[in-house]
Amino acid sequence: MTLLQVMSDSDAGAVVLRTEDPAVIEAELSRRGIVFDRWPVATGVAAAPTEQILAEYGGRISDLNGDGRYKHIDVARIHPDDGDPQWPEKAVAAREKFLSEHRHAEDEVRFFASGRGCFYLHLDGEVVAVVCEGGDLVSVPAGTRHWFDMGSRPDFLAIRFFEEEDGWVGDFTGDRIGANFPTLDELVNA
Ligand SMILES: [Fe+2]
Repeated sequence: MTLLQVMSDSDAGAVVLRTEDPAVIEAELSRRGIVFDRWPVATGVAAAPTEQILAEYGGRISDLNGDGRYKHIDVARIHPDDGDPQWPEKAVAAREKFLSEHRHAEDEVRFFASGRGCFYLHLDGEVVAVVCEGGDLVSVPAGTRHWFDMGSRPDFLAIRFFEEEDGWVGDFTGDRIGANFPTLDELVNA
């Protein structure tokens, strides 16, 4: 499920809004200057090579990148592999990478082709949690404090759009705020 939960940034228990209505999610994000869109999902491409996934979404990608600002477009994916004894360790390491509050020098634009992940946007006095699923596109504006939780069992395939090759690099704020807020698992199971 795609889910939006708005909380006070000083009290995670103060839930101002929780909704799964895509129109409300888009409107609430839009008035905060955050792009949210839904694309039709191409089925059966979860295991396809990157080139095929990018080709499947070629029309949408061209529309989004009409001005050519995104010079680097790639696919990030992680899927559980219970046959790999290293998987639990890999899952923890992947999850921890962007679990602390940070910013980027450019917009963080992600299209989730499948799976799930949650962006937490730390805005003026509030934390806006956006649980994205297959079909969701979100753009976190450059400079916005945020963190990302892929959950205890990371599983997603996302197309990433970068203006610069190192656009993914995070400037970590050192603020431990993320620890005070519900995890992705907690949000979807609430
Ligand atoms: Fe980020």
